[in-house]
Amino acid sequence: MTDKGGKTSRAQFATKLGVIATTVGSAVGLGNIWRFPYEIGTHGGGAFLVCYLFFIFVIGVPLICSEFSIGRSARKGITGAFREVSGSRWMGKIGFIGVLTALLIMGFYSVVSGWTMEYLFQSVAGGLKYSTQAEYAAQFDSFSSGAFRPLFWTLLFIAINYFVLVRGVEKGIEKVSNIMMPLLLLILIVFSVHSLMMPGAWEGVKFMFKPDFSKINSSVVLGAMGQAFFSLSIGMGSMITYASYFSADTKLGRTTLVIAVCDTLVAILSGLIIFPAVFSYGGTPAAGPTLVFEVLPTIFHRIPGGMIWSALFFLLLFIAALTSAISMSEIGISYLCDEFGMSRKKATLVAQGAIAVLSVLCAFSFGPLADFKIFGMTVFDLFDYVTASILMPVCGLLVAILGGWLSRKGFLADELTNGGGLRGRGVSLVQLSLRWICPTAIVLVFLHSMGVI
Ligand code: TRP
Repeated sequence: MTDKGGKTSRAQFATKLGVIATTVGSAVGLGNIWRFPYEIGTHGGGAFLVCYLFFIFVIGVPLICSEFSIGRSARKGITGAFREVSGSRWMGKIGFIGVLTALLIMGFYSVVSGWTMEYLFQSVAGGLKYSTQAEYAAQFDSFSSGAFRPLFWTLLFIAINYFVLVRGVEKGIEKVSNIMMPLLLLILIVFSVHSLMMPGAWEGVKFMFKPDFSKINSSVVLGAMGQAFFSLSIGMGSMITYASYFSADTKLGRTTLVIAVCDTLVAILSGLIIFPAVFSYGGTPAAGPTLVFEVLPTIFHRIPGGMIWSALFFLLLFIAALTSAISMSEIGISYLCDEFGMSRKKATLVAQGAIAVLSVLCAFSFGPLADFKIFGMTVFDLFDYVTASILMPVCGLLVAILGGWLSRKGFLADELTNGGGLRGRGVSLVQLSLRWICPTAIVLVFLHSMGVI
């Protein structure tokens, strides 16, 4: 791997565009296009959006700055970086939470990515031929409750991941992201304009943007926080790991803002595609995790050349999922390479193997294991809930405390200004948020949702 003047011979991203494309590629994924619409749909619309935006900009942005600073200064994956920046072996051990979170998320993320592959396949094979959300819901049900097909796509997705990952950071990941991310944005814009021109579209827009504050309760707030963490890829070390491949002159603050804005934009565009269509066709916004797989085909079915649009859309969604999945797998791989001195190839094999095992449980959660419940949830729902509502916030809290309190004096200012070379507007705001706002908000939301306060 190349070394462009870094402190060690660690791999580095080749270009500035590569840095943006890979980090945005990590953030923009199923979280924006699959998870965001169903979360906002089940949590009653506008009120959820307001909470979500609050968490993105007041907590998310400072946390990414902190993850970036930690990762680039240590040039290690999450456990090594936690240890180095805090100077405590214990913090390093605690960082393992991030590796665990990544594994659990990848368990269900691979399954949903597999669904996008099935829908890509069905678009081409002419299988998406119904016209209502209810019919597509039934079709989805019969597909996901099977055993072979969901599992086949899930494992294929993990295998594709493997092949991109073994090629390494700059060759595998950067190239894919550079081309596909801009294309995805373009197609989202086309479709949201199309959706907005449907009769009755306005109801969908109102549902999304008109906040009904009486609907805010702890599940909405906790849900919004989890979604913000998930969507921005914070709270498990993806951004720490990627920042360890940044060069000394990467502008951390600017990169963070680009990520936050692009990520939010994609989520909102995706909502603007889904909700006008839901209301226009008389469907239901609260369908849960299957929402986009029920609503998108109804849109494609009705437009001329729908098959081609549909194939293109699911292809891009698949790529978006892949670039995010890669950033998650990279956490484990970097951990195994750094801490156990494994070769990249072996580490990739071990990480993807572990993910494959967990993903089988998730893929079967809709079929053979649908009745296997832990705390009243299927394995799929349990992994989603535990990661978004517990592990990511806990890890986010650690990142805030580490960046705000436990690092050496002037750490954030040094990193965010590249050692004084940049003006560093906003450093004090980031610091303020990391020290006080993030910990307070995360702990409050957490305690409230547990019923303690
Ligand atoms: N942000 C991605 C999405 O929206 C998912 C993701 C990738 C992620 N890396 C992460 C979530 C790290 C949490 C932490 O689909």
